[in-house]
Amino acid sequence: MIHLKTEREIQLMREAGQLLAACHQEIAKLIRPGITTMEIDRFVESFLDKHGAKPEQKGYKGYSYATCASINDEICHGFPRNEPLKSGDIVTIDFVVNLHGALADSAWTYAVGEISERVKTLLSVTEQSLYKGIEQAIPGNRVGDIGHAIQTYVEAHGFSVVRDFTGHGIGPSIHEEPFIPHFGEKGKGLRLKEGMVITIEPMVNMGQWQSKMDRNGWTARTVDGSYSAQYEHTIAITKNGPLILTTTDQ
Ligand code: MF3
Ligand code: CO
Repeated sequence: MIHLKTEREIQLMREAGQLLAACHQEIAKLIRPGITTMEIDRFVESFLDKHGAKPEQKGYKGYSYATCASINDEICHGFPRNEPLKSGDIVTIDFVVNLHGALADSAWTYAVGEISERVKTLLSVTEQSLYKGIEQAIPGNRVGDIGHAIQTYVEAHGFSVVRDFTGHGIGPSIHEEPFIPHFGEKGKGLRLKEGMVITIEPMVNMGQWQSKMDRNGWTARTVDGSYSAQYEHTIAITKNGPLILTTTDQ
């Protein structure tokens, strides 16, 4: 079932999203060789607590942490751990904020120390592909328009789009209909409507798109060992166009 949101509900989700964005800005300052993803996880939990918010992922379907922290060839749902990050790594920090019952979800890939030129390109193409998808999130367009815009842009740069994980409707719970693949055909799929709140969260691999699941049953990684990046925003579909809820600049 698709839960359409009122303007008031969107406003509350936006407040959750602004807090999430502010937290990402703090994470950006912490990322350096030597820090662990467990330290980042604790930082996020205490930041949210200080601001009267909760980490919605903790306890969700038995997940144990506030954040997902996916390093290098890990695509998504990596567990925070006590191993220090090192120069040349990339790490995707993904989490969902619950502020007084309103949810927002956003992920960002961070470079640790010095990364290669090709990996820098992976990060910027993935981030740009998110905005290509967001431009299509308007009433009357279809889900396939979002996926098509992302896939075309990513593949033109020689990278590939992960097929096994999608964006999703969000609120009242983390994962709701509609599901939003980051690949697809123009004009195909469900029609987007005013009041939908969705995530767009392309996962882009340097090599092949195929993924495999770790034995922990959560963490997905690239089959070919290539690096994978991800950027995610929560977006409201409004009559005035896409409204990015997980930013401090809108
Ligand atoms: N934030 C994730 C997403 O973008 C949801 C992770 S669910 C968890 O879909 F259980 F792994 F936390
Ligand atoms: Co997320």
